[in-house]
Amino acid sequence: MLQEKITQYTTEINDFSTENVEELEQFRIKFLGTKGIIKDIFDEFKAVSPEEKRTLGKVLNEFKQLAENKYQTLKEQDQGEITGKDAGLDLTLPGAGFEVGARHPLALVRREIVDIFSKLGFVVAEGPEIEDDWHNFSALNFPEEHPARDMQDTFFIKKGGEFGDIALRTHTSSVQVRMMEAGQPPFRALMPGRVYRNEAISARAHCFFHQVEGLYVDEKVSFADLKQTLFYFVQELYGEGTKVRFRPSYFPFTEPSAEMDISCTICKGDGCPFCKYSGWVEILGCGMVDPNVLENCGIDSTKYSGFAFGMGIERIANLKFEIKDLRLFSENDTRFLKQFKTSLI
Ligand code: DAH
Repeated sequence: MLQEKITQYTTEINDFSTENVEELEQFRIKFLGTKGIIKDIFDEFKAVSPEEKRTLGKVLNEFKQLAENKYQTLKEQDQGEITGKDAGLDLTLPGAGFEVGARHPLALVRREIVDIFSKLGFVVAEGPEIEDDWHNFSALNFPEEHPARDMQDTFFIKKGGEFGDIALRTHTSSVQVRMMEAGQPPFRALMPGRVYRNEAISARAHCFFHQVEGLYVDEKVSFADLKQTLFYFVQELYGEGTKVRFRPSYFPFTEPSAEMDISCTICKGDGCPFCKYSGWVEILGCGMVDPNVLENCGIDSTKYSGFAFGMGIERIANLKFEIKDLRLFSENDTRFLKQFKTSLI
């Protein structure tokens, strides 16, 4: 009786095959489960005669082994299949996503400056990076052969010719000229851009950098307007309570001219290595547009007056992010750039 059963089930086990997880589980329950066939057979085995036990014992153990092996083999084979096929691949899950890039710190700062001035009605204007002598120097009241031209070490592209010397612009003040030549006041514009100077590259100087120029021309524009505008800008950019001071200076295109310092944003004016223990750092040059410049651009200097200012974006970014080495801005080292992740898109 028992021997017959075992033979019958042996065939069934040998013939059994599946790739289906559920069918395999049925198989396990049927043969190996706590109420399964093997358990039943072993129970029956207890009742057989001692002679039969001797022969059947071995057969029984082999039968149990056969069922276990079959189950194990099919299970392993199935797992191999499963990882490749339907297991773990849930098409309803959201995508893996990708790393969000970072904005260049100079782009962040430029955007912030533009945003602040746009609240005062300043629009953005641009001009070419390759300039002629007129727009970069002469119209801005740099006298011919005057040492003032040496203030900015110029990269000349072509000497002489129809438009005079052609050079990489040394400052964004050239865009002021282009704007004023193209129309009549009022002008209220911000001109961000890249500028070039023949300087050896070091932690503190580079042969190209970025500026933002500002120009405001209308009737009755005064130095008080200039001061108030820049004061507002500094409060917005560095926070309320940041102090400003103006020191007399010289630029060929403004009269009077000034340089503006702010209280050091790092030590809050107490004195630190960054501000050379003075409590102040210079951030921009400014002044009232020289009447000669207005006239050079076809604007009546008896009717209109204006102010202008220019600042280095790198300098502003240094103060904001405490970046000590200018070269980092142009090396495109992703370890540096990655630190400027922002929600601004
Ligand atoms: N162009 C100057 C420079 O590159 C900066 C500057 C100073 C711009 C005074 C201005 C200004 O518009 O009024 O150093």
